[in-house]
Amino acid sequence: MKVTIVGAGNVGASCAEYIAIKEVASKIVLLDIKKGFAEGKALDLMQTSTTLGFNTKIIGVTNDYAATSDSDVVVITSGIPRKPGMTREELISINAGIVKSVSENILKHSPKTIIVVVSNPMDTMTYLTLKATGISKNRVIGMGGALDSSRFKTYLSIALNRPANDIQGMVIGGHGDTTMIPLTRLASYNGAPVSQYLNQKELDKVISSTMVGGATLTKLLGTSAWYAPGASVTYLVDSILNDQRKMIPCSVLLQGEYDLDDICIGVPIIVGANGIEEIIDIKLNKLEQEKLEKSAKAVKNMNLSLQTII
Ligand code: LAC
Repeated sequence: MKVTIVGAGNVGASCAEYIAIKEVASKIVLLDIKKGFAEGKALDLMQTSTTLGFNTKIIGVTNDYAATSDSDVVVITSGIPRKPGMTREELISINAGIVKSVSENILKHSPKTIIVVVSNPMDTMTYLTLKATGISKNRVIGMGGALDSSRFKTYLSIALNRPANDIQGMVIGGHGDTTMIPLTRLASYNGAPVSQYLNQKELDKVISSTMVGGATLTKLLGTSAWYAPGASVTYLVDSILNDQRKMIPCSVLLQGEYDLDDICIGVPIIVGANGIEEIIDIKLNKLEQEKLEKSAKAVKNMNLSLQTII
């Protein structure tokens, strides 16, 4: 199985690293516009294969889309990351043009590929990829919910002082500091509702930490995060390539589901060999549905700025 990762920056390189170490794919192509950059990262990663014991082959190329041909999955991380104090939404004017041309180039060489969108603002970039390419909606998946859910579970595990792997939970809605919706009602510690162990004040703290999870890291690091984004992409790609059919919250095109239409936003889906296998209705309560509609409004507003390019 072949995976192409467009953008060899921190996030792209982390994706390549985890996909290789876990042998999720047999071949990875890392592509970047900066001359020699992807080649260097690929070579450095390849030199870890003997000591870490993986057989995935990684090659790096400078803007050579022919090398990406017949990829089963393409991960788009290209564009600029946010700097401290910036919102993901502020990146749109630069990243929209980049994501559009990348997705068009990719499809010339891998007409059947499934595309995983990571570039920000992620929901709008996912929508743009779908609209600009016209490919079927099951083949375009925005990764944000997987990442936000991993942050949510991490903050829950810290508040509960229990192992993160014993926590279940998900974040739906937009991948933005004010648009994401951590679903505490449905979160559990090995099946027991977390509300049995955390009071409302503690839950509210988990919610707010999750919502600014990316911004906190941007402030600490001076640029946006890469380990958790890379791991979330790997989790998603694994479910596609190995047809694991995991339920993962992702940004996907809704056409009536959750009472929303013509928008890509985070909801739980089954991820398998065809990309989006199914959109799962988790029966939101009234308050959660209201939050989702408010979030959708903000994402749709952001999508309006695409009018000049699609
Ligand atoms: C983050 C970026 C990748 O949330 O959106 O870290």
